[in-house]
Amino acid sequence: MAEEIAYQRCINPDCAATYAVSEILFGCARCGDLLDVVYDWDRAALPRRLEEFEAAWTRRHDPLAFSGVWRFRALLPFVDPKHVVTIGEGQTLLRPSERVARYVGLKPGRLFLQYEGLNPSGSFKDNGMTACLSHANMVGAIRAACASTGNTSASLALFCAAAGWPSPIVFVGSGKIAYGKLSQALEYGALTLQIVGDFDDAMRQVQAAAKRLKLYLANSLNPFRLEGQKAIMYRVLEALRWEVPDWIVVPGGNLGNASAFGKAWHELRELGLVDRVPRLAIINAAGANTLYALYEQHGLRWNGGRPDMALVQRYYEQLDRERRRANTVASAIEINRPVNLKKALRALDVCDGVVREVTDQAILDAKAQVGAGGLGCEPASAAAVAGVKKLVSEQVIEPDDRVVCILTGHLLKDPIATVAYHGTDQKQFDAVLGKRGVRRATFANRPVVVANDLDEILRAIQLYALR
Ligand code: F0G
Repeated sequence: MAEEIAYQRCINPDCAATYAVSEILFGCARCGDLLDVVYDWDRAALPRRLEEFEAAWTRRHDPLAFSGVWRFRALLPFVDPKHVVTIGEGQTLLRPSERVARYVGLKPGRLFLQYEGLNPSGSFKDNGMTACLSHANMVGAIRAACASTGNTSASLALFCAAAGWPSPIVFVGSGKIAYGKLSQALEYGALTLQIVGDFDDAMRQVQAAAKRLKLYLANSLNPFRLEGQKAIMYRVLEALRWEVPDWIVVPGGNLGNASAFGKAWHELRELGLVDRVPRLAIINAAGANTLYALYEQHGLRWNGGRPDMALVQRYYEQLDRERRRANTVASAIEINRPVNLKKALRALDVCDGVVREVTDQAILDAKAQVGAGGLGCEPASAAAVAGVKKLVSEQVIEPDDRVVCILTGHLLKDPIATVAYHGTDQKQFDAVLGKRGVRRATFANRPVVVANDLDEILRAIQLYALR
């Protein structure tokens, strides 16, 4: 039944080719553009009010009601429940943070952190992975693959291991992936290909290899993955007792999340389930700022589905001429050629969005504030917080606005960035952070080296803690 309600459609309005959800495509067969999953909502079993989703809370013994993605399945009805692959993803929290609110210049009670680090693999990717692997299961795909800056590979590897599927093939850039994430891909048994190159190279290669070997592509090019990531917005709404916030702020890398959020809000409004949508802020790292450059500096817009792709092409040619590669300590978003660029433009259009870039210095300082405030995140996630600070200082975000930052990944994903920031090893600081223009660890909490001697230890405690 689900297969009749849902279909795939090319996002290019001049093409708009449609395909059954049973087809494995990852791009329009006619024009090569991105695909959406779209629904014949008249035939779907929709709730009249969002509050109706709360009924699932009483059925937490049912894996589909327990999942933070599938309890909203009425809003992503492309798969029959019998094909769903779930590992309990989406048990995440929305927490207000007074400390971080103060840091970014918002009034008390106005800043909320959506902590996606609580997912089984430690990042928001699990929301999308459950959806695309349910599709893979539905169409009988045998072996999955992805390119990754680390979290997608960790998530894909975990799901395949948990489901007892063949090991996935993951393509990562050499030396480009944080240790927490690499350790996950290895431990969960993925065939891990370290491409001599960066994420943009790995992304290009995985698409070519997937075509040749008929691998199931689990990147956010896959429109079914983005359907799962819509659920992050549903949970934000739920945690705010179904009140729409003023701002959603998200880091931008391959731009899958931003695209999924835009689609979620567009659909909720079309369906009459919300009466307004929040504004969207997408935050790039300054060392990987394609969207910022194109949207804010070159004026690229969605333009009714016909963005100026010649401008994009020229921009990429310029990057190549100048041999500019993405470079940021926020390795998760170290991406110069975001595959979902077009869909992100659409999301910015739907949500009256803005794009900002933030320095690695601002990212690490914001990250330390998030940690000290009682939630921990990896550098890319902290870009969202640094972005809010910037937008408040520009008076784009008002101190009284209700703002939700998506903390996309767990603190433990990238221990080296954290230890280099707080630690006392200048060499490590220079090698990891200094070379990227980070000058100081503004909020460092230094470890104290002390002799193996009780008197010395007591003196140190007296000096540092009991002053
Ligand atoms: N934050 C984290 C922790 C991520 O891992 C990613 C993307 C992003 C933000 C950016 O999200 O791509 O939807 O704009 N990581 C991908 C990966 C690219 O391979 O794990 P996006």
